[in-house]
Amino acid sequence: MQPDITRSVALLGSTGSIGTQALDVISRNPGRFRVVALAAGGGRVDLLARQAAEFGPDVVAVADPAALPDLRRALAGHGVSPKLLAGPEGVAEAAAWPSDVVLNGVTGALGLTSTLAALEAGRVLALANKESLIIGGPLVKRLAKPGRLLPVDSEHAALAQCLWAAGPTGPDASAVRRLVVTASGGPFRGRPRSQLADVTPEQALAHPTWSMGPVITVNSATLVNKGLEVIEAHLLFDIGFDRIDVVVHPQSVVHSMVEFVDGSVVAQASPPDMRLPIALALGWPERVPGAAPSVDWTRAHTWTFEPLDDEAFPAVALARHVGSAGGTAPAVYNAANEVCVEAFLAGRLPFPGIVDTVASVVSEHSVTAAETVAEVLDADEWARIRARELTATA
Ligand SMILES: NC(=O)c1ccc[n+]([C@@H]2O[C@H](COP(=O)([O-])OP(=O)(O)OC[C@H]3O[C@@H](n4cnc5c(N)ncnc54)[C@H](OP(=O)(O)O)[C@@H]3O)[C@@H](O)[C@H]2O)c1
Repeated sequence: MQPDITRSVALLGSTGSIGTQALDVISRNPGRFRVVALAAGGGRVDLLARQAAEFGPDVVAVADPAALPDLRRALAGHGVSPKLLAGPEGVAEAAAWPSDVVLNGVTGALGLTSTLAALEAGRVLALANKESLIIGGPLVKRLAKPGRLLPVDSEHAALAQCLWAAGPTGPDASAVRRLVVTASGGPFRGRPRSQLADVTPEQALAHPTWSMGPVITVNSATLVNKGLEVIEAHLLFDIGFDRIDVVVHPQSVVHSMVEFVDGSVVAQASPPDMRLPIALALGWPERVPGAAPSVDWTRAHTWTFEPLDDEAFPAVALARHVGSAGGTAPAVYNAANEVCVEAFLAGRLPFPGIVDTVASVVSEHSVTAAETVAEVLDADEWARIRARELTATA
């Protein structure tokens, strides 16, 4: 069934894993969605120009101003001339561009400006860039009017769907006993800490069930991604950390569950494919027919669940700690991790050194309030500097 109104979409991070999958959803549903703005970093201008030629946005933005001449040339080659914007302010302008929904698929803490710009402009924000919510915490929540912040992370999209199952009047927090966030366990699931010292970037980048950008793929191997998601779940659903569990589910079909006070557990299941949560957030509250393949019930399946090994993968416990501390602590956790991932991918830090270094930086940090962008960015910068110092000598 086609909707009566075509929804206009501003897509940030269009050349990345989330961005290209969002464009796949949009191209298969031309009557439902229309792209009005595209934004990316500037690392893949040819792809960005091809996307602009295919989807015809009003505006295209690149974060790196040095990429603008190449982008202009590539667009001319395709015979299209959208309005061009450059620099972080240009990306923020694209985020605030008149649209029905903004999808923030930028990677890392850099996404904060776009999240704030979209919410300040009163847009509905489909949030893949979990980092901005985690580091911006109260700041982002204050700006997000009810129903205007929609999760794209598959786990949180699953939790939201399970919560709707709470009853006809919608989620009732008092009926929820706990949120159960599933984790694939990453490529090193089952290994003790002693067997993680020699793993290579190539091995860490080979995720068993999901195909994603490099940072989130390494974060999935260290379980930092799961730690970030626990904080994200706390912020999105206002549930205490003591009521958010993580369970390892290697098949990545059950994307998360909600346990209710009567003992009932509601789970959301679908084969691992980000196009489903992307389509759900873009089309909200309607479902997009055929957004992604569903479970094939004519085949036998085995879904397994096991507890997380907190000793080999201490990132989730550390995330609970920084999440409970609040203020600038989550920003420090995230920023130190981004630097450590870079150092690991460059061969300067062993795999266990990523979370060990993040823990050191966190332990040195004096937590303060994160009520303003400046306070968040100061903590972010301090953590990056300290993590660089520690990884330089590692
Ligand atoms: N991939 C997934 O399946 C998945 C699942 C759940 C959540 N997420 C979350 O979604 C976000 C994106 O992940 P991803 O895997 O799609 O990352 P990715 O493949 O690395 O793509 C990142 C995108 O951000 C753009 N970008 C980089 N710096 C930018 C800036 N300063 N301003 C605007 N755009 C910028 C990149 O442009 P260039 O190409 O020009 O560098 C690219 O389009 C992350 O927060 C991640 O945690 C991803």
